[in-house]
Amino acid sequence: MTDQLKVLVICGSLRKGSYNAALTRALPALAPPDMKLITAPPFDTFPLYNADVQEASGFPGPVNDLAAAVRDADGVLFVTPEYNWSMPGALKNAIDWVSRMKDQPFKEKPVAIQSASQGPLGGARMQYHWRMSMTFLNAFIFGTPEVFVGLAQTKFDKETLELKDQPTRDVIKLQLAAYTKFIQRVKA
Ligand SMILES: Cc1cc2nc3c(=O)[nH]c(=O)nc-3n(C[C@H](O)[C@H](O)[C@H](O)COP(=O)(O)O)c2cc1C
Repeated sequence: MTDQLKVLVICGSLRKGSYNAALTRALPALAPPDMKLITAPPFDTFPLYNADVQEASGFPGPVNDLAAAVRDADGVLFVTPEYNWSMPGALKNAIDWVSRMKDQPFKEKPVAIQSASQGPLGGARMQYHWRMSMTFLNAFIFGTPEVFVGLAQTKFDKETLELKDQPTRDVIKLQLAAYTKFIQRVKA
């Protein structure tokens, strides 16, 4: 087998029973053999971004850890809910911290997104906001197929949180295969 592509998975929900976290757990079975999925270091202890804190004490250790993981990855896959039509604040705060680093880790990094929400649109509006932030960071943004898991409460097993909806599994498989090719093209 050729070298596997390392894809860092950043989950935007901090909730224990999160559908997005459950979605990340479904990914290894749906990924092509040349994609290796890596769980990102946590960002829930990041302080709220404040340039004064950065100037006084530098970047907190956990921010450095996340930045290093992004740098080390061939690609980054965000799996996140939509909060009030946008990104969850904790995730946006994490991106804001990492974005202030000198050798900005998202620059020219192939990035992709999936979202699950309990609303019917599956986080579609948040994905546009994410695309805007990633554009500003000069990331290479994967386009289609898009993955929106709407009405998530009907698509995961109520007890085990296993992703049971076959059309959703099918589109994720298509997306991960296309994202693999996208990363390979960027690296070539
Ligand atoms: C602060 C907050 C804002 C929310 N805003 C939206 C929203 O804009 N659109 C939507 O579809 N769902 C919204 N929801 C509902 C989420 O889709 C739902 O809580 C979902 O389960 C969150 O993802 P998780 O299960 O991975 O934690 C919101 C939930 C919270 C807590």
